[in-house]
Amino acid sequence: MKQRRILITAALPYANGPIHLGHMVEYIQTDIWARFQRARGHEAYFIWADDTHGTPIMLHARKRGISPDQLIAEMAEEHQRDFRDFGLSYDHFGSTNSPSNRELVHGIWARLQAQGHIESHTIEQCYDAERKMFLPDRFIRGTCPKCGAEDQYGDSCEVCGATYEPTDLINPVSTLSGSAPELRQSEHFFVRLADFTDMLQDWMRSPALQDEVRNKLQEWFGDGLRSWDVSRDAPYFGFEIPGQKDKFFYVWLDAPVGYMASFADFCASHPQLDFAEWWGPDSDTELYHFVGKDIIYFHALFWPAVLHGSGYRIPTAVFAHGFLTVNGAKMSKSRGTFIMARTYLDHLHPDYLRYYFAARLGSGLGDIDLQLDDFRQRVNADLVGKLINIASRCAGFIHKLNAGQLGPVLPDADLYQTFLEQQNAIATDYEQRNYQAAVRRIMALADQANQYLAEQAPWKLAKQPDQQAQAIAICTQGLNLFRLLITWLAPVLPDTATRALQFLQLDDTPQALLWSRLHEPLLEHAINPYQALLQRIDEQQIAAIIEDSKATLEASSNAAGTSTTAAAAEQKKTAQKKPENAPDSMQHQPTDTISIDQFLAVELRVARIVSAEQVPGADKLLRLQLDLGNAQRQVFAGIKSAYTPEQLQNRLTVVVANLAPRKMRFGISEGMILAAGEADDGGPFLLSPDSGAQPGQRIR
Ligand code: MSP
Ligand code: ZN
Repeated sequence: MKQRRILITAALPYANGPIHLGHMVEYIQTDIWARFQRARGHEAYFIWADDTHGTPIMLHARKRGISPDQLIAEMAEEHQRDFRDFGLSYDHFGSTNSPSNRELVHGIWARLQAQGHIESHTIEQCYDAERKMFLPDRFIRGTCPKCGAEDQYGDSCEVCGATYEPTDLINPVSTLSGSAPELRQSEHFFVRLADFTDMLQDWMRSPALQDEVRNKLQEWFGDGLRSWDVSRDAPYFGFEIPGQKDKFFYVWLDAPVGYMASFADFCASHPQLDFAEWWGPDSDTELYHFVGKDIIYFHALFWPAVLHGSGYRIPTAVFAHGFLTVNGAKMSKSRGTFIMARTYLDHLHPDYLRYYFAARLGSGLGDIDLQLDDFRQRVNADLVGKLINIASRCAGFIHKLNAGQLGPVLPDADLYQTFLEQQNAIATDYEQRNYQAAVRRIMALADQANQYLAEQAPWKLAKQPDQQAQAIAICTQGLNLFRLLITWLAPVLPDTATRALQFLQLDDTPQALLWSRLHEPLLEHAINPYQALLQRIDEQQIAAIIEDSKATLEASSNAAGTSTTAAAAEQKKTAQKKPENAPDSMQHQPTDTISIDQFLAVELRVARIVSAEQVPGADKLLRLQLDLGNAQRQVFAGIKSAYTPEQLQNRLTVVVANLAPRKMRFGISEGMILAAGEADDGGPFLLSPDSGAQPGQRIR
């Protein structure tokens, strides 16, 4: 087999908050692939970094009274501690705020300019005169111009879904100072994407993209390629644009260059590696980016254009994945399902989650659900009940009957061969990121191995002196099958596999994990006494994770501005992600249909309005106290134009019960009630179930 040279990246986490299990979907997916490639004998590097620039990081540091450099240094440590403890095998972890990144960004900028791909013009933007800064869309809130919902973001309305410019908002305010933003002009720099139309068309038709991504890009193409605004005004935490005063590169320009910079730093400490061989325009190495579906636009459109325009190679492929849901719904802080990586690690072994994610991950963009009950049962049944069981059933007899030495022959040589014949299919599954298929295949073999042991019953043979040689042979077979399975699962279960190899007295170098070594079974080979490789997950442990996650939420709402909070993790998301002049990224794109699962993820329940009252200062909102059977909720609803509080008292209605609580100007809204129409068509009309319905009943 030809040795491939493969460079692998995962998206760079913002140095603005802690790592949560949503991130871990991607990072585990990437790590499994990197480990798999190495186990096949390829030269594979997993190169990574923190994404350190941008307005939210600058403001976050200010709020904590530390410098951005201090904040990102702290985060780099915290992130890497989580990553190491999850068994992620990255070869280098850099930072986008590094000298090498600055140098590469400057070089790319100079080349883009020299080739005439940069244009500049003056644009008008919202400006906070009190804070003396231009405001990203997400730092402006106001009344939705379409539906009149109050307290909406500057780029889209969470109530009616409309997208608009911040200047369209009614009564806009800066979330930083509370003052009304004014319009100011400023010169901005743009990458002229239209220059790359042909190249991007070719790229789009190549196998570099998943079909779902290709279709999405085709839509964006249909709208025409607008130039991409890559500059920001001071104050900003980032790299200054050379030759300009108070102008900075937008974080999304320098962030992907961070992949290159981190690799350059890695090369500096590994002299056998030549940066140009990997990133030069004629490179014959492979380059893969793992990313979430929310940042496809940057990786599948801007990034190849920037690389090509500045004379570098383009990626071999971009691999996008879906989002994590927990118990069928978006991660929720109030339910304790917004789980930080550290909180998980405080209670459970990383291999459990790695296994569960692998068992659910395919090669597409579908979302991945962490169903906590299913997680516990599946891990217990598969890993402890099936996989580990093979080793624990066999090891004792090898020690008791043969002084810890495997037998000289495999009794049913065909069986080992049958297993080995699956190796290529398993490899193909991994290669295509169809981990769920790989896991299914391996677990089917584990079933077969257990069935073999049950039929041969070495524990019965062991009792009869003349059958003991056969018992040793059966257990030798069992342990050899176990070795195959654990080696194939090693990319998923690195820590368990390492301990299994110690048990089998195989050396603990990476070579021991090479699949090419599996053709030779272990015979007349000494093994160590068996020690439990994994314990069952207890229900209590899951409950403790949920409890701790709720506690993290409380800590975060009490101590505003700490870096390790759930709040920080969510808030930065909204602030940086959307390219201001780009069409909505995929997660905001309206879809024609939803799956039944998506529908069922919306928890609709009957609610009784216990009380309704006016909200001082609000034009449209009433504050409702709802009874959901076993819980009470406060909800703000924009129905003031159609109902008096008295009319609402005691009415039954329908509430979206699993909506993440939303902080509004007047308080927290813990759900949404359903109504039809708008004020200008006689509405809103509150929906009500027929009488007889009970508060709390689920609606489908
Ligand atoms: N800093 C940018 C990426 C720059 S890459 C040059 C960023 N950071 S992030 O911290 O918000 O997200 C990092 C990765 O984690 C992204 O690929 C994102 O899609 C992924 N995920 C974040 N939350 C996620 C889930 N809830 N589920 C699955 N993946 C998620 O974006
Ligand atoms: Zn609206």
